[in-house]
Amino acid sequence: MNMLTLSAETMRRRRGIKWHRYPEDVLPAWVADMDFPVAPAVQQAIRQVVDQMDYGYPHRDPEHALEATFARRMADRFGWAVEAERVQPLADLVQGIAACIVAFSQPGDGVVVQTPIYPPFLAAIELTGRRRVVNPLVDDGRRFVVDAEGLARTVDAGTRLLLLCNPHNPTGRVLEREELEAVGRVAADRDLVVVSDEIHCDLVYPGRRHVPFASLDPELAARTVTLNSATKGFNIAGLRCGVAYFGSKDLQERFRRALPPPLLGHVNSIGHDATVAAWEHGQPWLDEVMEQLRWNRDRVASWAAAQGGVRHHPPEATYLAWLDLRALALPATAHSFCLEEARVGLNPGEDFGPGGEGCVRLNFATSPDILDRILERLSAALERLRRGDRKVAASRGR
Ligand SMILES: Cc1ncc(COP(=O)(O)O)c(C=O)c1O
Repeated sequence: MNMLTLSAETMRRRRGIKWHRYPEDVLPAWVADMDFPVAPAVQQAIRQVVDQMDYGYPHRDPEHALEATFARRMADRFGWAVEAERVQPLADLVQGIAACIVAFSQPGDGVVVQTPIYPPFLAAIELTGRRRVVNPLVDDGRRFVVDAEGLARTVDAGTRLLLLCNPHNPTGRVLEREELEAVGRVAADRDLVVVSDEIHCDLVYPGRRHVPFASLDPELAARTVTLNSATKGFNIAGLRCGVAYFGSKDLQERFRRALPPPLLGHVNSIGHDATVAAWEHGQPWLDEVMEQLRWNRDRVASWAAAQGGVRHHPPEATYLAWLDLRALALPATAHSFCLEEARVGLNPGEDFGPGGEGCVRLNFATSPDILDRILERLSAALERLRRGDRKVAASRGR
């Protein structure tokens, strides 16, 4: 475990939102960026663009362009055959989600999600004037699982789209083939387009395996748009580059008719080259990162287990820990309790829709030292709560 991590001082000198959203005395563990340097191959690709002042309209060798690189990576990592000509470059995946909603449904149509869910899924449904159809994940005592029967009951005749997040943010679930097949049966039965956001597929821990939804079978592939990027695994979210992959020519054409290519623009050269370098040469670095993340994940899990009243299932993927604090009957929301009493900045569970109440999401992709300080602060705040300390009591009713 010799992963190089960055100090709080270094992170604060940068412009990343993670370390600037909250006041300086708060330790931030919210938005999904890692406090790690990037892979040397990524930095080198960026440096080459900068050193050569290579800022004009790019000419790209098709063999090493984003489309072909994505296809090779999916084949190598997941045994999934992807056709480069059905890859659509995008600036980011949230754009891809909204674009798919616009392309494959009408205002008022239903879009089904499994909550709690990454908040921009919910925002995209609302901003496009579609109707949110909710099928909550079920906590089976060991982990969160998809309620396939609930899904079949919930999807009504006006539902056109299913948004899938796998690996799942915020629970860290890596859905198993059987769970995906059950979702697929509902999608086929109700003729839904599936938008499968697989951005966290590089961050799967040993013992689990990511199965791309569109790899299940050709009939499901034909109704699936897969969204992906190197931004989470390789820590380059600010570089703005991702892909949508259409599982059939028909889907791609429907998408293009609704959203002619100029509306999407092009990805910029730095984001493009960084992504290609990450996918082609970044895996040794990512393997090291995963060791550090696994250590951090286990640290959070043992911390949670030692705090009576913190319910937590260790994630199977992602560097996000979903903590259910409802049993503590906190005097404020879980988020504001952690912020005000522990000076730790997390994501409020309520932002993740039904099932998120009383929960927080903690990003543990940081140095062991910062993670320890975060957990110590939280422990101390919970200890004061148990003792009925005045500071906590004073926040009652705030
Ligand atoms: C599931 C999921 N989708 C999309 C994104 C954001 O991707 P982008 O920055 O490309 O919009 C995130 C970021 O954390 C995410 O967790």
